[in-house]
Amino acid sequence: MYKSKILGLGKYVPDNIVTNNDLTKYMDTNDQWIRERTGIEQRRWAVPGDGNTTATMGVKAAKIALERARLSPKDIDFIVFATLSPDYYFPGSGVLVQEMLGCDTIGALDIRNQCSGFVYALATADQFIKTGMYKNILVIGSELQSTGLDLSTRGRGVAVLFGDGAGALVLSRSNDDSDILSNHLHSEGKLAKELSVLAPGALNPPNKLVEDWDPEDLSYYPYMNGNFVFKHAVTRFPEAIMEGLNAVNLTPQDIDLLVPHQANLRISQFVQRKLNMRDEQIMNNIQKYGNTTAASIPIAMTEAWEAGRIKRGDLVVTAAFGSGFTWGSNIIRF
Ligand code: COA
Repeated sequence: MYKSKILGLGKYVPDNIVTNNDLTKYMDTNDQWIRERTGIEQRRWAVPGDGNTTATMGVKAAKIALERARLSPKDIDFIVFATLSPDYYFPGSGVLVQEMLGCDTIGALDIRNQCSGFVYALATADQFIKTGMYKNILVIGSELQSTGLDLSTRGRGVAVLFGDGAGALVLSRSNDDSDILSNHLHSEGKLAKELSVLAPGALNPPNKLVEDWDPEDLSYYPYMNGNFVFKHAVTRFPEAIMEGLNAVNLTPQDIDLLVPHQANLRISQFVQRKLNMRDEQIMNNIQKYGNTTAASIPIAMTEAWEAGRIKRGDLVVTAAFGSGFTWGSNIIRF
């Protein structure tokens, strides 16, 4: 078995900043409610005409990751792209990245695991490196969520949470002690509808939505049972982290940096208290970007690396929970 190493990290977010106060133009909400419940102060939302799509943002993040890895698109053997907001219903966004970056006709795989998408994507890429099938894999998480939100007061419980952006990393065969030490992935499909967008889908195709037009049918907007999701998240995050650490005989005190999916600052603080970790062991940037779903971990990891909070040899742990429900962790010797 080969080992895997993160060679380069990159991120991209749209220029347009939307503060909590800006949201009051659309809906009955306020800065205090959003800050107290979620920690979010602002998010980035693409604006029509700025060229940002899930694929183009992914490409911008990937170019930075490639440059830092000192690799060119021709060196990449495979693309793993995680998103819940693909440019098209099909094909997936990975193939668009293959074209835009000018990679050879390499394989491109889309991962549909929402907030856990990047944890699943990294675990998937790791398997291809470990078996020796590929040497350099581009792993991308990217989301354009602002175009799919209900911006009326009816949708405020969800709309205020989400932001746009992308993060990427290059995972390569390691020739030193760097490695992904463990991956743990879970799902519980009986709770699929507690956090979901049900249409369009093969059960709710566009023609049915148009023909049976029902103004009360909101199945094309994200639905979230907020309290229920919160309660599961604060259980599953620590569980996934401990499962990963136990598998490699390490403890929360050994972690140099925990990079959790940025779902809610209160969830991160809960996890921190539960695992008895110090402030400097946790990366939080939800204040600036909101919840960017599959992009949140690579954006946060990139910012942490840029700020010198991740160095070679560090133990970096990711964990995520989200729609599915799905959850998981990666334990990384950086
Ligand atoms: N602005 C102002 N008021 C709002 C609001 C908003 N944006 N959204 C909801 N409210 C209101 C509700 O209508 C409700 O009013 P009521 O008591 O008069 O009915 C009140 O605030 C409380 O709503 P509730 O949903 O119970 O709030 P909460 O304390 O559970 O916080 C979340 C809501 C979404 C912040 C919280 O449930 C959460 O973080 N859940 C998990 C989210 C998550 O992580 N999702 C992604 C999965 S990875």
